[in-house]
Amino acid sequence: MKKVLIISSSPRKNSNSEALCLAFADGAREAGHEVEIVSLRDKTINFCRGCFACQKTQKCVIDDDASLICGKALTADVLVFASPIYYYEMSGQMKTMLDRLNPLYPSDYAFTDVYFLTAAAEDEDDVPERAISGVEGWVECFERARLAGTVFMGGVTVAGERPHHPALEEARELGRKC
Ligand SMILES: Cc1cc2nc3c(=O)[nH]c(=O)nc-3n(C[C@H](O)[C@H](O)[C@H](O)COP(=O)(O)O)c2cc1C
Repeated sequence: MKKVLIISSSPRKNSNSEALCLAFADGAREAGHEVEIVSLRDKTINFCRGCFACQKTQKCVIDDDASLICGKALTADVLVFASPIYYYEMSGQMKTMLDRLNPLYPSDYAFTDVYFLTAAAEDEDDVPERAISGVEGWVECFERARLAGTVFMGGVTVAGERPHHPALEEARELGRKC
């Protein structure tokens, strides 16, 4: 049994990328894994101050919700990030969260597999490319980890508009195999 932490960064309720999170979670639970979904929607995540204090203390100097999420990420075996595509990139919320996971860098983190789930209005395969590249950059900094899979839900603008989108099954399948 693996510990799977899913971090959903969309600010919208019933969001498309969050639907991917729920599908991934279903699959992972079916496979017997322990799954937790954290949504950034109701969290206070301030910008990283770049002070590097965390590289000595493994703790952030900012007292907000990022610390709790960082603690969960430290012990998870699998990390799943989900983001809407904003201007062909990941959301600012998600980038801010990735930066605030900086205390993990000098730590004995457990995760080896990272997954990335995205949703966008356009449907072309290359729409999430830059966002995926951003996550690859983050993963590259964690030597024991790899980007193990991605799912893209294209052609969705309004939240929850395609409850039977084929990407949901892809995410469920990835969850089963994670
Ligand atoms: C600020 C902003 C920028 C966006 N930029 C893009 C974009 O570059 N390409 C695209 O296809 N969709 C773009 N969209 C549309 C969203 O990706 C789309 O609504 C998606 O379903 C949102 O995911 P969510 O439901 O998980 O929040 C943008 C939306 C917003 C609010």
